[in-house]
Amino acid sequence: MDSEMKKRDENQYSPRPNGGSQSTPLKLPFIIGVAGGTASGKTTVCDMIISQLHDQRVVLVNQDAFYRSLTNEQLQKVSEYNFDHPDAFDTELLLSSMQTLRTGRAVSIPNYDFKIHKSVEPARLVNPADVIILEGILVLHDNRVRDTMNMKIFVDTDSDVRLARRIQRDTVERGRNVENVLDQYAKFVKPSFEEFILPSKKHADVIIPRGADNDVAIDLIVQHIRTKLGQHDLCKIYPNVFVIHSTFQI
Ligand code: ADP
Ligand code: C5P
Repeated sequence: MDSEMKKRDENQYSPRPNGGSQSTPLKLPFIIGVAGGTASGKTTVCDMIISQLHDQRVVLVNQDAFYRSLTNEQLQKVSEYNFDHPDAFDTELLLSSMQTLRTGRAVSIPNYDFKIHKSVEPARLVNPADVIILEGILVLHDNRVRDTMNMKIFVDTDSDVRLARRIQRDTVERGRNVENVLDQYAKFVKPSFEEFILPSKKHADVIIPRGADNDVAIDLIVQHIRTKLGQHDLCKIYPNVFVIHSTFQI
């Protein structure tokens, strides 16, 4: 077990108040991060995981919700704004929201509108759950965000496939035209993918080639989550039993 994994596993337990050597189980949610380039299939993979875990309490949190709203000045020059840079997100708010969820409390998260580049009302109320999935292009970039996670996934889809999907999606769902999408891709999306997103792949516990087409990977991930949730319950029954966690790679 590497030291980062060990630290995460220790986070699953709180020390006994009397400082004894045994640990008391604390029911913390199992937190999964799902990163990958734009249109790699992150949301689709999350939806598949959630539908297979239909008998568990699972919530999905999108990093997109934490995009900073553009000012009027920025809106006038929107073609010069880099939405793929880490600074485009309010990571402090993301961290505090994850901390609230992690401690079993509901949290209100912003509702981001890609057409007007701003958060809109009403905010979305996210209830606490046993499994929290945090999905977004840069969720593995910041070590503080990574440290909240029990499992880190990177969805690895070829860039030509991603660009084709992005053109289709942004013109149909996000109010863009093909020329804007291609300009933005060349100016910001591709360079930021290479500078920030791709390097974050090394932090992943599991890399999924071909995204949602990879049924085997998704089945294995769901199996792993179920095992961890089961161990969680075992620890509640047998508080003195420690569970050895391990990593796996597909
Ligand atoms: P991301 O969350 O990474 O941006 P999405 O899961 O939203 O990606 O997928 C982007 C687009 O590509 C969506 O329109 C989705 O329906 C489509 N898509 C995702 N995965 C596949 C797939 N395996 N085959 C075909 N289309 C897909
Ligand atoms: O869903 P997906 O992961 O593709 O969302 C992230 C992408 O959304 C980024 O690559 C960014 O360029 C794009 N984006 C945008 N306009 C915004 C906010 C994000 O085009 N207002």
